[in-house]
Amino acid sequence: MNSKLAVEFVSFKDATSSARAKKGSASPRTLVVFAGKDLSFGAQTTKLLGDSLESIRRAAASASFKGKASSVLELWGPDGLKFDRLLVVGAAAKEPPASPAPSDALSLGGYVMGKLGRKGEAVVLFDMPHELEKADSAAADLMLGMRMRAYKFDLYKTKKGDDAEPEGALSIKIALADPAGAKKLSNHADAVAEGINIARDLVNEPPNVLYPEEFAKRAKALTKVGVQIEILDVKQMQKLGMNALLGVGQGSVRDSRFVVMRWNGAKNAKTKPVAFIGKGVTFDTGGISIKPAGGMEDMKGDMAGAACVVGLMHTLARRKAKVNAIGAIGIVENMPDGNAQRPGDIVKTLSGQTVEIINTDAEGRLVLADVLWRIQDQYDPQFMVNLATLTGAILVALGTEHAGLFSNNDELAERLTAAGKETGEKIWRMPLGPAYDKLLDSRFADMKHVGGRHAGSITAAQFLQRFVNKKPWAHLDIAGVGMSSPSTDINQSWGSGWGVRLLDRLVADHYEK
Ligand code: BES
Ligand code: MN
Ligand code: ZN
Repeated sequence: MNSKLAVEFVSFKDATSSARAKKGSASPRTLVVFAGKDLSFGAQTTKLLGDSLESIRRAAASASFKGKASSVLELWGPDGLKFDRLLVVGAAAKEPPASPAPSDALSLGGYVMGKLGRKGEAVVLFDMPHELEKADSAAADLMLGMRMRAYKFDLYKTKKGDDAEPEGALSIKIALADPAGAKKLSNHADAVAEGINIARDLVNEPPNVLYPEEFAKRAKALTKVGVQIEILDVKQMQKLGMNALLGVGQGSVRDSRFVVMRWNGAKNAKTKPVAFIGKGVTFDTGGISIKPAGGMEDMKGDMAGAACVVGLMHTLARRKAKVNAIGAIGIVENMPDGNAQRPGDIVKTLSGQTVEIINTDAEGRLVLADVLWRIQDQYDPQFMVNLATLTGAILVALGTEHAGLFSNNDELAERLTAAGKETGEKIWRMPLGPAYDKLLDSRFADMKHVGGRHAGSITAAQFLQRFVNKKPWAHLDIAGVGMSSPSTDINQSWGSGWGVRLLDRLVADHYEK
């Protein structure tokens, strides 16, 4: 859900020719300025605040406001200013590091949005108390942070509580010396914000609404932005031999789907595509190896990988990325039933390899096995990156700070890690190796799909690696970052939309021609 939020970039001059809201209007006009350490201001801010500076300093002293990051001084009806409200937002550079991290403007935008509320008009004077290296891209990041923070999922609330924020439209002007550069970058930032919010919606939707067929339908909506969509149903998958994916879904009354999205934006149509693959388990009960009841409702988010891929494909198409990209998602519901898969079953995967089922709660890797194989076989991609809420064990290892990265290719792993640092969607590389792989040996089939009690995230990755046919590949285990996310300045949503920014950055930095 996007709340009504209009953002434009203007010059300092245009921003300050503004009048106070009409008397009694419930839509305040707000001026936002940034203050550094010990209440230092940029030159434009000092000029605009003019004679009001003295009373602001007095107010700051009484409120012990010193310009620290994540603090704010709020003044209603500020003396001598043509605004109803003044927000002085702390933006002192963090020490260390001395220079602000790449995602600081993003967080700052989110923080400002959180203070603004949802109604009225605001002028944000993007004039920092310290030097900014890339002012244009920082301004675009500021806007992206605002859009990310403004997201709200309240589709199923029929009553708004007393303390609900007043609804309405918020329009924001971001003022900077020369808005032209930021305007150019804002198209990209808007595309990213839309992609993130599409992914968040999908993750937040309840599992009775968002089952595989409905998920595929929502992916189909991407045709509007120029993405080609192919949807395979159960019969078509049976014909191909995608039995690993189908086995997971066979206990559900909701039929499974396999969706391939294609965006052809490269100048040369023959440029090999990059491929993104997502786990889309719309609900994971565990199947016959059923999960305990406590917290099971969270398993509606077991499709966060697929949601990210849909959001990413939207972003790439919306900003007309010069890349050929494939997004592929396997969508199933994992339910216990008379027809459900059993531990002990042996399935023949699309690759021809046979798998002994050990624990039906390790379903995601089975879905991905067939999708990975199909994509490398059909499209010969430059690389495959898959995202999956694959293991609880990755939460034990990395918590909610980093996603787990597993890869058979150092260059791809390094590029992903760098994109993680740039965007703040951080990943941490974990090991792979023959000793772990051996834990998947089976007495009855080519392999089993679960190793022992130890190294659960690694053996899951080893299993996936058996289906990539030596193609450059990376697996991101996002069980800790994709859902049930801690609230931050830029994300207050249960489904975070994690990965859209990371992978958009990976593409933008290395794969556009
Ligand atoms: N979807 C779960 C993993 C998960 C756990 C995601 C917590 C998000 C939060 C996955 O399908 C699963 O159940 N994995 C099992 C694997 C085990 C049976 C080998 C797990 O992690 O316990
Ligand atoms: Mn499971
Ligand atoms: Zn799962």
